[in-house]
Amino acid sequence: MAESLFVSKGGKEDKYNDLLPQLSALLAGEVDLTARLANASAALKATFDWLWVGFYLVREAEDGEALVLGPFQGPVACFRIAHGRGVCGTSWARNETLLVPDVEAFPGHIACSSLSRSEIVVPLRGAEGRVIGVLDVDSERLGDFDEIDQMWLEKVAALVLVD
Ligand code: SME
Repeated sequence: MAESLFVSKGGKEDKYNDLLPQLSALLAGEVDLTARLANASAALKATFDWLWVGFYLVREAEDGEALVLGPFQGPVACFRIAHGRGVCGTSWARNETLLVPDVEAFPGHIACSSLSRSEIVVPLRGAEGRVIGVLDVDSERLGDFDEIDQMWLEKVAALVLVD
């Protein structure tokens, strides 16, 4: 396993370009999902100036299933998000990436941190394309995410799952 991370000083495409092969090398050989998601969160947080980055995982709950907080980097966050609630629960329900340039304009947004202004949520797809969790990234800046982030973070969401 690579024990150090080189962080590109270029623009975000340079950062993603340099990060992805390193993330792939970092995760190679580790089969435990929690361990993989923990180091993926750390690598993403070290590379980008984001408020919060981490994972919520679909788990059994009293009333069916819920997203439960997984490995992350950033301020403390809500433990559980119901299906169809907030940005994460909506991404899960729709099985699609959601780009939210202004969280205050998103109906039902769950404000884990009042500092969060924009957000992107990417589903983690397991067997048969079923959503097994989401990758959630929050920024203190409005409109911080675009199709470039979507393309790369969807690659990250595929990479972090155990083969
Ligand atoms: N903002 C998210 C909740 C999770 S936290 O921001 C870490 C949402 O509305 O789904």
